[in-house]
Amino acid sequence: MIKKEFRKGVFWTGAVDWDRRLFDSLIPLPDGTSYNAYLVHGSTATALLDATDPSKLRQLEEHLADVPRVDYLVAHHGEQDHSGGIPWVLAKYPEAKVVCTPLAKGILIDHLGIDPGRIRTAADGERISLGDRTLRFIYSPWVHWPETMSTYLEEERILFSCDWFGSHLATSELFVKDEVRVYEPAKRYFAEIMLPFRAIIRNNLEKIKDLSIDIIAPSHGPLYPRPQFIIEAYNDWASETPKNLVVLPYVSMHGSTALMVEHLTAALVRKGSVVQPFNLACTDVGKLAMSLVDAATLVIGCPAVHVGPHPLAVNAAYLANALRPKVRFASVIGSFGWANKIVETISGLIPNIKAEVLPPVLAKGLPKDAEFKALDALADKIAEKHKTLLGLP
Ligand code: FEO
Repeated sequence: MIKKEFRKGVFWTGAVDWDRRLFDSLIPLPDGTSYNAYLVHGSTATALLDATDPSKLRQLEEHLADVPRVDYLVAHHGEQDHSGGIPWVLAKYPEAKVVCTPLAKGILIDHLGIDPGRIRTAADGERISLGDRTLRFIYSPWVHWPETMSTYLEEERILFSCDWFGSHLATSELFVKDEVRVYEPAKRYFAEIMLPFRAIIRNNLEKIKDLSIDIIAPSHGPLYPRPQFIIEAYNDWASETPKNLVVLPYVSMHGSTALMVEHLTAALVRKGSVVQPFNLACTDVGKLAMSLVDAATLVIGCPAVHVGPHPLAVNAAYLANALRPKVRFASVIGSFGWANKIVETISGLIPNIKAEVLPPVLAKGLPKDAEFKALDALADKIAEKHKTLLGLP
């Protein structure tokens, strides 16, 4: 992709990764991604904001081929998809200093072996003058590592936010044109890496509430010319108020647990809840994570393998626990062969989920009348709990 000037002397100098389908060997990227970097020329100094992923360094090299001097290399975040190119940038520009938070300094030294003498830390709210332009650094921790910060280019009212507000979306368009198209990849990204930190994210949102922002320029996905779109979405996602939604990740070996999931889903829908079942044998875990952003209730559908829970359900429970969703109610349903320790084992995997546990429903072999009645009772209980919690009619 070509270098793009979107304000006089302010360039996008990133790379689009159309083919990447997995991040951290874990997170699905169905729409690819980009590693945005930005170049800001002032009348007396030049700053590069972030340095792309090492796999795309060649693009950064091309973008900077005609740039004779970089004075500051702002590292918003130590993760390699933004900082991986720093060693190359420092070698090309011997006068450049890395600017980052004190926490990021340690991370850059540990992860990339950056010479501490090349790093200048910035305080929260500190400014660096580029002559006729000013960079103001705003600490925005835990989006999604502890060291993360954003940069506000005061004269242009641009907020460079790094992962915060980003979306894993490969596109040749610099700016968001279709907000509906961007909403899901942005929510997916929030769900996968920021959901556990929503209390701190609410603080971060409060910090930028009164900032006059014309453009939010994240380090993944297109830029937001209408920042309110993504700020409002974050206010919703980071809130502690769930929606009338039951998330039902499940796995079934011989169809019995699937029958129970079908029955519970129908009963919940009759009661007015939205239900999102995810068959863990084939689901995209990013979609499961997005549902957990909103869910009031989590029900795990799990058969026994020998006597313990199916490993796919163990994986889902572990992931859900790591994401610390705002679910208020939880339960387990499933089928077993001769004996089981499903509930004990699953419960032990989700200590971070501070939810009221509703009575589990387990069937020996095929579910029968007693289990279907118990599933109806579970649906009634969930509906009643949602009604009270959410003030539903
Ligand atoms: Fe896009 Fe946390 O790196």
